[in-house]
Amino acid sequence: MKTELKFESASTLAAELLVVLAADAATSKDKNASAQPVLLTKDSTIAGADKPVLASGEFTASACETLLLYSPLELKSKRLLIIGLGKLSKVSVHEIRKAAGAAVRFAKPRSIRSVTLVLPEHEGISLAAAARAAVEGAFVGDFDPDTYRSDRKDRAIEQFTVVAPANADKKVVEAAFREGVILGESQNFTRALVNEPGNRLTPTIMGERAAAMCKEQGLQCEVHSTEKIKELKMGAFWAVAQGSEEPPKLIVMRYEPKNAPKDSPVLALVGKGITFDTGGISIKPADGMEKMKYDMAGGAAMIGAMRAIAQLKPNVRVISIVCAAENMPSGKAYKPGDIAIAMSGKAIEVLNTDAEGRMVLADGLHYAKQLGATHLIDAATLTGACVVALGMVNAGVFSNDDATYEHFHKALEISGEKFWRLPVEDEYRDMIVSHIGDITNTGNSRWGGAITAAMFLKEFVDETPWIHLDIAGVAWMEEQKPWIAKGPSGVAVRSIVEWVRSYGK
Ligand code: BES
Ligand code: ZN
Ligand code: ZN
Repeated sequence: MKTELKFESASTLAAELLVVLAADAATSKDKNASAQPVLLTKDSTIAGADKPVLASGEFTASACETLLLYSPLELKSKRLLIIGLGKLSKVSVHEIRKAAGAAVRFAKPRSIRSVTLVLPEHEGISLAAAARAAVEGAFVGDFDPDTYRSDRKDRAIEQFTVVAPANADKKVVEAAFREGVILGESQNFTRALVNEPGNRLTPTIMGERAAAMCKEQGLQCEVHSTEKIKELKMGAFWAVAQGSEEPPKLIVMRYEPKNAPKDSPVLALVGKGITFDTGGISIKPADGMEKMKYDMAGGAAMIGAMRAIAQLKPNVRVISIVCAAENMPSGKAYKPGDIAIAMSGKAIEVLNTDAEGRMVLADGLHYAKQLGATHLIDAATLTGACVVALGMVNAGVFSNDDATYEHFHKALEISGEKFWRLPVEDEYRDMIVSHIGDITNTGNSRWGGAITAAMFLKEFVDETPWIHLDIAGVAWMEEQKPWIAKGPSGVAVRSIVEWVRSYGK
């Protein structure tokens, strides 16, 4: 999708599809909700073209509601699409992002190849923030997961144009727009990886895809295999990997800005890259097992985040480690009752081979510290329990350090992604005590499963400030929404990038 930012009067453009945004101005005080929806543009020609339909009451401007006008007389554009943002008092950049996605998804099945969105002018939302959100949303809307359908028509949008008023601060809006392009493309890069089935994205292929991205973006990258994993004594990672014919890969990516001060932070992004999770010897039921191709979504989010970081160039050092392996049952597979000695030296009693994500992350997190990380963030489709707790709306976030969490919380305000903080407290530690080794890889009951998984990871983090993201419930959209297709969501990429930028813009 090509993108363009124009500074001119929207009503003079001859667009294939011109999109304007509207909001519902009715308040609870308005009897019969008689207030009309308001258009968020100061362009009087567009407002004039819309007047009759807005007055009709047929369109209420609820979130992502659409109304199409054909060849409005006053305009040069072929079609005018009005999209609702919901209540005027609640309009934020997050509604604009979704509306832009909805505009693109409206156009795609109608064979409309070019979409032109008029930036909304609304108190409290800068044109720069709106431009960034709009183009991010357009990329999100443009992605479809039908890569392998033989009847697939290429319905991708060719051109997405954002129109800002001619008197806008060009430099500021342009810079924000460019950020939006980078973030939108990087999120889709992650989604394309997550979408790949297990046979087409083995740990080896995941390593190759990461290395190719790094080469293209000028990042350092090493992809280590079994030998190095054994040499580093990553006994927890290897325990999981040993059951598969596919060799595991330890992917290490590095971003080094030229002028970062010597004592400045080193941020580490650690991702779970289980390219397929059968459960291993504690095998999962057949029903729904196919979904476990997306068990590498945390790792893919880190690769996508590194892609964006390489282009945005924040002034902070970043390392990323993705532990890629396949969790398979076999004659060589690890078994319940086994003891695995992690890289940190801790003895893990394996109670369930399906709790493999925490095993690979244990060594990934420890290795990140060894490489000099001062702050850690991990992302993983880690537990079904997190899905039970938060459903498919919020992902879980855990942290051992309030200041580090605060950086992440602020990042969420920019990204618009939904994460809900869950506790890491010593009282839960008793649930993972082993009588044979140091720690068990599952809790002693099924209660609080997302928290016991986080407590397990905490053992390998020690005092280093750390954030853990459990994205099991939101990495794959079970249903499409007006602004996003069913399938991989690319969740966490934008939030992780903002978290990184908060340490060195
Ligand atoms: N990959 C799964 C978690 C998962 C569940 C991801 C649903 C996406 C959607 C993970 O490896 C797993 O199987 N966890 C077990 C842990 C249990 C054995 C303690 C689970 O959640 O059941
Ligand atoms: Zn599992
Ligand atoms: Zn898993």
